[in-house]
Amino acid sequence: TSKKHAKLKRGNFARLSGKHVDHFQSLLGSASQVLTEDLDGYNTDWMNIMRVSKILRYCNDQKLAVVPQGGNTGLVGGSVPVFDEIILSLQLMDKVISIDQMAGVMVCQAGCILEKLDEQLADYNLMMPLDLGSKGSCHIGGNVSTNAGGIRLLRYGSLHGSVLGVEAVKADGEIIDCLSSLRKDNTGYDVKQLFIGSEGTLGVVTAVSILCPQRPKNVSLALLACSTFDDVLSSLKEARNQLQEILSAFEVFDNDSMMSNQTNLKLMNPLKEHNFYIVVETSGSNQSHDEEKLNAFLETVMGSEIINDGIITTEPSKIRILWGLREKITEGLLHDGYCYKYDVSLPLAHYYRLVEDMRVRLGDRATRVVGYGHVGDGNLHLNVTAPAYSAELHSLIEPFIYEYVAKLRGSISAEHGLGFIKSKYIHHSKSPQAVVLMKQLKKLMDPNGILNPYKTLPHTD
Ligand code: FAD
Ligand code: MLT
Ligand code: ZN
Repeated sequence: TSKKHAKLKRGNFARLSGKHVDHFQSLLGSASQVLTEDLDGYNTDWMNIMRVSKILRYCNDQKLAVVPQGGNTGLVGGSVPVFDEIILSLQLMDKVISIDQMAGVMVCQAGCILEKLDEQLADYNLMMPLDLGSKGSCHIGGNVSTNAGGIRLLRYGSLHGSVLGVEAVKADGEIIDCLSSLRKDNTGYDVKQLFIGSEGTLGVVTAVSILCPQRPKNVSLALLACSTFDDVLSSLKEARNQLQEILSAFEVFDNDSMMSNQTNLKLMNPLKEHNFYIVVETSGSNQSHDEEKLNAFLETVMGSEIINDGIITTEPSKIRILWGLREKITEGLLHDGYCYKYDVSLPLAHYYRLVEDMRVRLGDRATRVVGYGHVGDGNLHLNVTAPAYSAELHSLIEPFIYEYVAKLRGSISAEHGLGFIKSKYIHHSKSPQAVVLMKQLKKLMDPNGILNPYKTLPHTD
């Protein structure tokens, strides 16, 4: 038990014993597939698993607590044990079941890695409807369980829309087969939605059916720079107006994020130093038409001096480098020592004011206070770094930030979920009645509370 869990009481779960281990070995048919030693790597990594239903049924009968784990890239402590819960890794369930090119639907197992799925879909002129900086490690099952957002949400919407079907296993081992591939199906409650974004607390996702958009024929990327956040918003308005159906991403990051990239990752800023940088991506099917629209947009924003500097490219290798400036901020900030991470939704008029207010509040106690994120979706990532964890700094940030966001009717977790770290703050974004209903659903679907205990819902006893 780490210091951070010191105040939390272990739930009334059974202790894993030799009897349980023997049973797992009999289920899996091989002693080498049940590990009880040298587990350090697995608490930050993966473990073998195949027969999810039988394993959960047994765990439920024995009151053994379980943490479902995908790629373990989650940012809220949801995918690792708090005490001695069993890690149920989906890593070996990594098969693509079918790809229907005509319908644009892929069905696959939960342990498939997001980037690999996207690469496979390229052969069918299709693509994944989501893209995250963690794509090389995260699983589609983890993405669905967290309802991950990312840089394509602006264009293709959330997984609540693009996931057509889910196969999941309840805590008691019952398999819920909602693995439909239909676009339209209004036969009562949309049960699969319960597993999307519930962070492994209601069931283990074992397979997913997902709507995949047509892969664009050409992609262009512009990295732009401007002086004020109002300029960022004016550019967003203009991009929406002029680029419309070809706009596929609109991201922002501030100069403090750029400085971290430069200092911590030695990434080069290809532009002159400015207060804000914007990544605008377009993707479409007609190169000359798309370029004409992007050029017209750039002429407007540069002509009216909303944007002061910029570069544009259509070359895939250069696109990757420019995207890296935005996607590697997360990694760069860790080099400062300790990083307090926040992921909020705010009305755009208040989006960057929170970063400015936090800077004033923390003064020189913080190494950096940075703001970046999916501004086109109203989602800000506010990160504070320091050489090491400090309880004093922590108490200056929280609950201040959650109260600030709640006052504006924002969300205290736009896309990362609540996991272990943020579950106790749920009341800032959900009404008491909604939290009661969530608890009732949890009780119904997992009466013994074995699935991902201490996560998502506030832990009361
Ligand atoms: P894990 O981390 O393993 O698990 C996450 C949660 O889901 C846990 O609660 C776990 O118990 C549960 N879970 C995992 N698999 C299953 C399953 N099969 N069944 C039931 N429950 C399961 N997130 C965003 O939303 N947008 C971003 O842009 C984004 N960018 C990121 C960039 C970086 C560099 C990093 C490190 C993370 C980023 N994330 C982002 C966060 C993270 O990658 C996502 O939350 C991702 O969806 C987690 O997937 P995973 O497979 O790693 O899940
Ligand atoms: C991102 O958009 O870069 C991710 O959500 C990760 C982060 O918040 O750092
Ligand atoms: Zn994000």
